[in-house]
Amino acid sequence: MSRWKKNWRLVPLFAVMTFLLAGCGDPTLSALRPRGPVAEEQLFLMKISLAIMLLVVVVVFALYLFVIIRFRKRKGQEGVPKQVEGNHVLEIVWTVIPILLLIVLAVPTVYYTFKHSTNHVQNKDAIHVKVTAHQFWWQFEYPELGISTAQDLVIPKGKTIALELTSADVTHSFWVPSLGGKLDTNTGMTNIYYLQADEVDVFKGKCAELCGSSHTLMDFKVKSLEQADFDAWTQNMKTPAVIAADAKQGEELFKQKCLQCHAVDAQGLGFGPNLNGYADREMLAGVLEHNDQKLKDWIKNPQAEKPGTLMPIVPLEDKQIDEIIKYMNSLK
Ligand code: CUA
Repeated sequence: MSRWKKNWRLVPLFAVMTFLLAGCGDPTLSALRPRGPVAEEQLFLMKISLAIMLLVVVVVFALYLFVIIRFRKRKGQEGVPKQVEGNHVLEIVWTVIPILLLIVLAVPTVYYTFKHSTNHVQNKDAIHVKVTAHQFWWQFEYPELGISTAQDLVIPKGKTIALELTSADVTHSFWVPSLGGKLDTNTGMTNIYYLQADEVDVFKGKCAELCGSSHTLMDFKVKSLEQADFDAWTQNMKTPAVIAADAKQGEELFKQKCLQCHAVDAQGLGFGPNLNGYADREMLAGVLEHNDQKLKDWIKNPQAEKPGTLMPIVPLEDKQIDEIIKYMNSLK
């Protein structure tokens, strides 16, 4: 009896923990706070599954408790009770009910699974983006717009974003919890998906498939803008950046030391992320604070910030790095 009492004391603790932990997490990184139609439909599927599971658990436990109380061994009762075998009505009931529940679950699940894999690439109203996952960064190409970028997927709000997902190396998984997810990116394959954001905001994205030592640092952002701002961004990406006079030396150094891997033009794709528009990005290398000191740390020792990254240590003096940073800050 005392053991029971001890265990029951844990109940308020669990209740408090549940209450506290339920408040955890980032609002732009939660499948429970959908910010677009795909995520809303997926949350509906979660709710309906949960409701059916709860219903089954409650009914089964109620019957179970009823039976062990109603048919318990009573005082003076001896021997084995009367054995009952087979009951057609009951057998039909407990076969038909699960079938009905599975139908209720299957119809919307199958419907939305097919809906969410609709190929919108040819849809004239959609924005087509080719997503390529790399260890450990994301490349976004907009073939119709003649732009490519990395780490920040910029989209107009309220529009369908038709995604073609693939990988340059191992299997990764593209996941933007607030907008929908997740879908694997596989080498040599193109997986189809689409998303839509209802509002202007910055949504966090994650790689959701263990892909190496910096899997957990393989973050990206989805930045949704008003259509006019998106159009301006597109134009800006196509317009060569204005390099200030004091950044010219850095530009030369960048050309010698960095350009083999990092494109800085509208469409360039390289071994490393395209850095066109670097100055306007949300973060540095996807996960680091976007400032000069962090950029310097990153260039000096990328492995310390993102273990396993393929970004090499380029032999550069501190002064040279400062010049390169000046140049990168002018990539707006
Ligand atoms: Cu890429 Cu995990």
